[in-house]
Amino acid sequence: MTLLGTDLPIVGAPMAGGTTTVDLAAAVTGAGGLGFLAAGYRTPDDLAAQVAALRERTHQLGVNLFVPSDERPDPAALRAYAERLRPVADAFGVTLTDPPLVDDDHWDAKVDLLTSDPVPLVSLTFGLPPREDVRRLQQPGSSVLATVTTAAEAREAEALGVDGLVVQGPSAGGHSATFDPRRTIEDVPTADLVRAVRAATRLPVVAAGGVAGPADVRELLAAGAEAVQVGTLLLRTDESGANRTHRDALVDPRFTETVVTHAFTGRPARALRNAFADEHGEDAPVAYPAVHHLTRELRATAARVGDAEHVHLWAGTGYRHAPTGPAADVVRALTEDL
Ligand SMILES: Cc1cc2nc3c(=O)[nH]c(=O)nc-3n(C[C@H](O)[C@H](O)[C@H](O)COP(=O)(O)O)c2cc1C
Repeated sequence: MTLLGTDLPIVGAPMAGGTTTVDLAAAVTGAGGLGFLAAGYRTPDDLAAQVAALRERTHQLGVNLFVPSDERPDPAALRAYAERLRPVADAFGVTLTDPPLVDDDHWDAKVDLLTSDPVPLVSLTFGLPPREDVRRLQQPGSSVLATVTTAAEAREAEALGVDGLVVQGPSAGGHSATFDPRRTIEDVPTADLVRAVRAATRLPVVAAGGVAGPADVRELLAAGAEAVQVGTLLLRTDESGANRTHRDALVDPRFTETVVTHAFTGRPARALRNAFADEHGEDAPVAYPAVHHLTRELRATAARVGDAEHVHLWAGTGYRHAPTGPAADVVRALTEDL
């Protein structure tokens, strides 16, 4: 791969919240793909420790950063949402506290870390940072990839001077990378989006979203992607950090579909449809990461006690195909007939 420098055109998606582990990233790289660490929600020290641990096993790695937004959430809307959540929080014995209104996920410190201790690839999600920050990341030699969800976002990213794009289709598990969390996430096949982005920009593309097997990989490569990023298919692997409640839900016949909802974190994300998504999909404010902080303890408690109805069960549309076993087997199975 020109952009990635790997034998196989597979990227192990960065999955924040503990799902991506050093072992998972190392396994994907070890199998010939490219493993990404997820910096989101981590402290800079924690991220530095993960980078150091992964580097002991491979020098081919990427780090994914959440780009902060400077939008201020409405405290009254957050309080109203907290009131609606109170009965379920009480049932779990959780006290909902006022979430921080501002949280940049330690952006400056993480950029500082990656400029003083650079990695080959840095991918960005949730928007675009100032041009100066892209330059700083590129200066020591990192290639910077922006995650985009429309051709218009791809053009903006190209104009900013990034080196490549992660084109995320709406079938992807987890948060949408959309620059505008209020927009309706239209149902477009990832391959169509890849073609639209390729027509709109000259940048190399990593395609993400909805991969269920090798046929999807072939289709995305044929659409013009240089590589394919997979998340959901890695969730149940040996090296994944996904919790037991999440792993089990992916194969529980009770959960029959995925939905895009901002109920859990205030930003649209694709998850298994459960009671929490049904009950709060409409009334949650679009206010990330404040809603993430507001609901975090409630979700963590539900996960701990095995209540899958009140946890964010991030999943892409290919979730029924997520296997157990080594992550390397997923990489091999996806590429064996290329
Ligand atoms: C549990 C989970 C966590 C995720 N966390 C991140 C993240 O921290 N950063 C990011 O850029 N994408 C994240 N994603 C999205 C992936 O990068 C990727 O777009 C998606 O997994 C691809 O679709 P698929 O899940 O259908 O394979 C996450 C996805 C999942 C399933």
